[in-house]
Amino acid sequence: MTLQIKSLKQYKKVYQESVDNPEQFWAEQAATFQWQKKWDKVLSWDFKKPDVKWFEGGKMNITENCLDRHLKDRADQTAILWEPNDPNAKTVKYSYQDLYEEVCRFGNALRAKGIKKGDRVCFYMPMVAELAIGVLACARIGAVHSVVFAGFSATALADRIKDASCKMVICSDYNARGAKNIPVKQVVDEAMLQGCTSVETVIVHKNTGGKVNWEPARDVWWSDAVYRRQKHCKPAAMSSEDMLFILYTSGSTGKPKGVVHTCGGYMVYTCFSFKNVFQYEKGDVYWCTADIGWITGHSYIVYGPLLAGATTMMFEGVPTYPDAGRFWQICEKHKVNQFYTAPTAIRALMAKGDEYVEKYDLSDLKVIGSVGEPINVEAWNWYNEKVGKGNAPIVDTWWQTETGGIMITPLPGITDTKPCYASYPMPGIQPILVDSQGVLVEGNDVEGLLCVKFPWPSMIRTTYGDHERCRQVYFSSFENMYFTGDGCRRDSEGRLRIIGRVDDVINVSGHRMGTAEVENAINEHPAVIESAVVGYPHDIKGQGIFAYIIAQEGTVGDAGFEKSIRDVVVKEIGPIAKPDKMLVVPGLPKTRSGKIMRRILRKIASGDASNLGDISTLLNPDVVAVIKEAAGV
Ligand code: WT7
Repeated sequence: MTLQIKSLKQYKKVYQESVDNPEQFWAEQAATFQWQKKWDKVLSWDFKKPDVKWFEGGKMNITENCLDRHLKDRADQTAILWEPNDPNAKTVKYSYQDLYEEVCRFGNALRAKGIKKGDRVCFYMPMVAELAIGVLACARIGAVHSVVFAGFSATALADRIKDASCKMVICSDYNARGAKNIPVKQVVDEAMLQGCTSVETVIVHKNTGGKVNWEPARDVWWSDAVYRRQKHCKPAAMSSEDMLFILYTSGSTGKPKGVVHTCGGYMVYTCFSFKNVFQYEKGDVYWCTADIGWITGHSYIVYGPLLAGATTMMFEGVPTYPDAGRFWQICEKHKVNQFYTAPTAIRALMAKGDEYVEKYDLSDLKVIGSVGEPINVEAWNWYNEKVGKGNAPIVDTWWQTETGGIMITPLPGITDTKPCYASYPMPGIQPILVDSQGVLVEGNDVEGLLCVKFPWPSMIRTTYGDHERCRQVYFSSFENMYFTGDGCRRDSEGRLRIIGRVDDVINVSGHRMGTAEVENAINEHPAVIESAVVGYPHDIKGQGIFAYIIAQEGTVGDAGFEKSIRDVVVKEIGPIAKPDKMLVVPGLPKTRSGKIMRRILRKIASGDASNLGDISTLLNPDVVAVIKEAAGV
C-alpha cells in the first residue's frame, strides 16, 4: 500500500529521506503498484536537455492499477459517483466492477475502430462519467488522450486536434450546464471544417438527447460503438516512459502547448499525493469540483483517486444552479468527506451570502482543499469557518499542469495551516527560491522565483511535437532547475506562499491564459490594429482581463464595438477569455526596442497609476498620460 503519512514527526522523517535518497524513496512507493515487469533503473535525468526518465525498463498499465487491482477487495465499492446537473435527476453509481467493465468495453470499441497504441484521441465532453471511462479506455489500450475543456471554441479545439494529429474525437451531443443546454457536437462539427484531416472517427455520446447533425461516414454513437463488446480487454504493456496523455496549457507566448505526461511516474505520484494530501480512508467520499478538461480533473478526479481505490464524485453542473447552495447540498446528500475546489468558486459563493451554506449539514467534511490560484485571506477565512466549521483543515495546494501533481501543500491534521500559504513541499519535492540572476535566495522572510531543483515522478517530459519549447520555457531560465513561472515568499518559519505569475500568464477564475493568446484573438477583429492584454485584480475571478486596443480611425469604442471584440475572442478561444474591460487607446507604451511596457499597463488597469516608475526611456512617453486619462485614473 502506498505510504500514508500520519504525523508531523513522520512527515519530517519521510521528507528528509526523500531528499537524501530520492531513488530509494520513490522505488519504495513504486513497489506498491502492480507492474507487468519491474523497472531496471529508478531515475536518470538531465535538466539541460531536458531528459527525465523514471522507472525505466518497467512495464505496466495504469488502468490495471486503477481497476483490476481493486477487484479482489472492492469490486462492489463505488468508484465513480456521478451527480447530474439536474438536482432532481438520479445519481449514477459505478462500482469498481462496473467501471472495469465499461472501460474494457470501450477499450475494445476503440480498438475495433482502429485505434492503436500511441494514437492520439481527443475528448471534447462535459462532465459525464463517459469522459472518465473514455480516458481510462485510452490508457487501457495505450492510446494517448488529449482532453480539451468543452468551453473552448471550435477554433481552439481544431488547433489542439491538429497539433496532436488526433485520429479520433469523442464528444457528447449536448452539455447540460445550469439552465443551459449547450450544443457540443456542433462545435466539433465546426472544428472538423477547419482542417482536422487526421480525424477518421467521431464518437458521440448521447447526453441530453437533442438533435445533432450527422456525418454517416465519420460519426458513430457511443452506444453503437460499445454494442456487444467484451467486458474484458487486455491491457496494453506500456513502458514507464510511454506517453499517457497530452494536455494543452497556455504560456506567455504563442499558442497553447501540449504538456506531455508519461505512464509510470505519473501513476506513482498522483496516487501518493492523493492519499497524503486528502488523507483518504476507505469508505470516504471524495469530491473534486474541477473539470476533467484541466489537470486537476485528470490527476484528482480520475487517476489519483482511482489508483487509491477511492470513491470519487463527478459533478455535471455548476455551483450556482439551481442556487448558490448546490455544492453544499451535494456535500450533505453524499456525506462528502474531502472537498476540493477553486478560490474563484469560494469567492463567488461567499458573495451570495451565508444562508446557502448554513442550510446544509457539512459535518462529514474532514479536509477541504483549494487549488488553481492564490486564495485571499477573506475567502480562506470564510471557507475555514463556514464550510470547514473550523474542523476541516484547508489544504491550499500549489501545483501546475506541468507538475502533474500537488507539489506544495499542508498535510491536513499533520502540518499547520496559515491563510494564503501553500506551506510545505510534499515528500520528494525540492522547491527553491532564486533571484532574477538565478542566485539562490536563502533564509526566511524572503521572496524569489519558485524553482524545483530535483526531478519528481509526475513532472512534464516534453511539449508535444516541440521539445525545444519545453527546454526553453522551463529549463533554460536557470541552470539545472525547473522554473515554475511563479513568484513565491518564504515566511519566518519556512512556509511558502505563492504570490502569482511573474510572466505574461494570467489566471482568470482559475483558468490559465496567455495574454499573447488573447491579444492574437482580439487582433483578428478587422478594426483592431494592435492590442495589449493584462490582468487586473478582480474580486471574484482573482484576475480579470483588461484589453487596451488601438483601433482603426473612425472606430467608436462603444458598447457595440466592445461586444464585437468579445465575439471575436469567444470565436477564437472561448467565453473564458472574454475581456472584462476594454479601452480604446491611441498608442501603447513601448520600449525603444518595440516591446510593450506591460508593467505600466498593469498598473493603470489596477486603477492605481500613482507610481508608474521611470517612463522617460519609453519610445513614446506621452502616450502614458493619454491612456491614464482615458482610463480615468
Ligand atoms: C498556475 C498553474 C494546478 C491545477 C490548476 C492550475 C497558479 C495553482 C495555486 C495555489 C497560488 C496557484 C500558479 C500556477 N496556482 N495553484 N494553491 N496558490 N497559485 O493549473 O492551469 O497549470 O496553472 O496556477 O500561478 O503556476 P494550471
